[in-house]
Amino acid sequence: MWYHINMVIKSLKLVNYRSYKEKIFNFSDKLNILVGKNAQGKTNVLEAIFYAVIGRSFKTSKEKEVIKWGQEKAYVCGEFQKKYREEKIELFFDKNKKKSIKVDDISLHKIGELLGTTNAVFFSPDELKLVKESPEERRRFINIDISQTNKRYFYMIGRYEKVLANRNKLLKSTTDLSVIRDTIDIWDRALTELAEKIFIERKKFIEELSPYAKLAHQYISGGSEELQLVYNSSFNENYKEKMIKYLSKNLEKDFKLGYTSVGIHRDDIDIYLNGIEVKNYGSQGQQRTVALSMKLAELEIIKNRIGEYPILLLDDVFSELDSSRRQKLLNFTSKTQTIITCTDFDLNIDANIIKIVKED
Ligand SMILES: Nc1ncnc2c1ncn2[C@@H]1O[C@H](COP(=O)(O)OP(=O)(O)O)[C@@H](O)[C@H]1O
Ligand SMILES: [Mg+2]
Repeated sequence: MWYHINMVIKSLKLVNYRSYKEKIFNFSDKLNILVGKNAQGKTNVLEAIFYAVIGRSFKTSKEKEVIKWGQEKAYVCGEFQKKYREEKIELFFDKNKKKSIKVDDISLHKIGELLGTTNAVFFSPDELKLVKESPEERRRFINIDISQTNKRYFYMIGRYEKVLANRNKLLKSTTDLSVIRDTIDIWDRALTELAEKIFIERKKFIEELSPYAKLAHQYISGGSEELQLVYNSSFNENYKEKMIKYLSKNLEKDFKLGYTSVGIHRDDIDIYLNGIEVKNYGSQGQQRTVALSMKLAELEIIKNRIGEYPILLLDDVFSELDSSRRQKLLNFTSKTQTIITCTDFDLNIDANIIKIVKED
């Protein structure tokens, strides 16, 4: 068998997926460029690849949306090559049923089972929201990224959300606080137990990510500005003890609010350039390069954790970069299989160029 250093997608078959009736794409192990005018179906290809890796779309939470208009079913098949084995991932979308997933012809029971089968990092100009918008975006980033290499984390997040929902339900269940004083303790203990574990994973992840993001940022921007990421959480050490104390002390407050005012569901990542917060003070250009650097840093984290680079999916990033930064980005990503979309392409570089033109 051919020896691969990185994970790659060899081919992708789409049937009635979004704008595609039936189409097979073959990819090279290095750089692939999908070139086409607007609305021809370039992003749809990246979405389908990401779907096969993560089990979710980056575009929509409504899975039926990907079925080609007027059709009942859609099918995606990705053939991946990893360091030591091949993997076939199939997705079956149906208007009348929940989607189902098969790995090497075996049906999965839960979407969580797909995690870790293959890995990918996706970036588009839209990911600016990672830097600019609410903490929720950054928690989403951190959750998806840790989950990719840590299934236990994925399940812990799911459990935390359930326990949190139960605690909040209890807070809203009565107008008399004394009724729930005793029972809420059970939820507090379960919640803080999980919170501490999640906190530890997140802090570790950000501490590992930060130096790589700094290097990527300096390389792409060509400047000397220092990027720093800090996990900003309600409690910093002895998370569990501190949180449980806080919860019991602030029970009245939470009761009035009708929700739990503290925990890992309120945490954030602080992002600094030379010590200044990028979210509020960075220019659009700085924010964009920072978001891209965070994603590029993820390549290294995944490599560290699983021993091979993930697939890199870059949507429309060229339009935002001048040609020197384009070239730098491509140099930087030469270690991974990269699939990139663009409307025009002027660099003289060795790549598998795939022209995308909408059918019909
Ligand atoms: N479920 C669907 N069925 C048919 N066409 C779709 C569906 N979803 C999106 N499209 C079409 O896909 C095209 C957009 O594809 P996209 O990959 O975003 O284009 P781009 O090349 O600009 O990245 C649009 O023409 C849109 O009408
Ligand atoms: Mg697009």
